[in-house]
Amino acid sequence: MGKIISVANQKGGVGKTTTTVNLAASLSLADQRVLVLDFDPQGNASSALGASVQGDEETPTTYQVLMGEVTAAAAIRKTEIDHLDIIPANTHLTGAEIELVGAFAREAKLKNALAEIKDKYDYIFIDCPPTLGLLTVNALNASQSVLVPLQAEFFALEGISQLMTTVKLVRENLNSALEIEGVVLTMVNPTIKLTREIEGEVRNHFGEKVFKTHIPRNIKLSECTSFGKPIVLYDVNSKGCIAYLDLAREFMARNRRPEQDLKGNTSNEQANVEHPQL
Ligand SMILES: Nc1ncnc2c1ncn2[C@@H]1O[C@H](COP(=O)(O)OP(=O)(O)OP(=O)(O)O)[C@@H](O)[C@H]1O
Ligand SMILES: [Mg+2]
Repeated sequence: MGKIISVANQKGGVGKTTTTVNLAASLSLADQRVLVLDFDPQGNASSALGASVQGDEETPTTYQVLMGEVTAAAAIRKTEIDHLDIIPANTHLTGAEIELVGAFAREAKLKNALAEIKDKYDYIFIDCPPTLGLLTVNALNASQSVLVPLQAEFFALEGISQLMTTVKLVRENLNSALEIEGVVLTMVNPTIKLTREIEGEVRNHFGEKVFKTHIPRNIKLSECTSFGKPIVLYDVNSKGCIAYLDLAREFMARNRRPEQDLKGNTSNEQANVEHPQL
């Protein structure tokens, strides 16, 4: 059964899209069937996977899917990587937030649209915009879990409390099964003392929910985006690529499923360790 995961943090530029695209691509290399749903009008995930639709009026996008104009299946596009598909987005998606205000079951539009394709994939990642409006609420309502990229910098924890309040509200009112997939520290520079201190603070606060793998600041990760390629197709030996492959391994170990064990994918990692603060 497909697992839907929102990649969310209302703070801009913390590595949501970079994490969505590169974790998704790394999982596909491990034979997982993965879909990236671009849910940000900026369309960064689409361009990072070579599927930009800015200014394109023909190709179906997340906007049409959300508005019920096309099925999700009709909006799926293949990427350069086997087993990795995308539903792209462009600036039209901005309008959806306003157009849906008066709609019936407006918070369930995405959930309903994804129902028919959910089981075609092992994982569906939703790259959320840097806001906590109706789009992000739709994403959280459609998801089993939320993955939170966190930039190791001052006030990182203060920023995240707003997101946690939204998660709590979604759990109470719409989707009681919503879990925290984990927190991924991004753009880490281990040589800077302050960064190390912040990383320690975040690990103290969120405990086992923080992935052991952190993503270092690595110029290759920003370069590959402008070439429309995930890091695995751009520089497989870069520190950034190695980190995302490690993250994918850790992610799969946490999500280990009985049928994977039968195929021989074993791991000693503990699956989904709970933490009281989440
Ligand atoms: N580990 C990293 N090392 C170096 N640059 C990075 C790293 N992660 C992300 N970047 C760069 O930082 C910028 C912001 O990253 P990204 O677009 O992934 O963040 P975001 O949270 O999706 O932003 P937004 O909130 O605008 O959607 C981008 O230019 C990206 O290429
Ligand atoms: Mg983004």
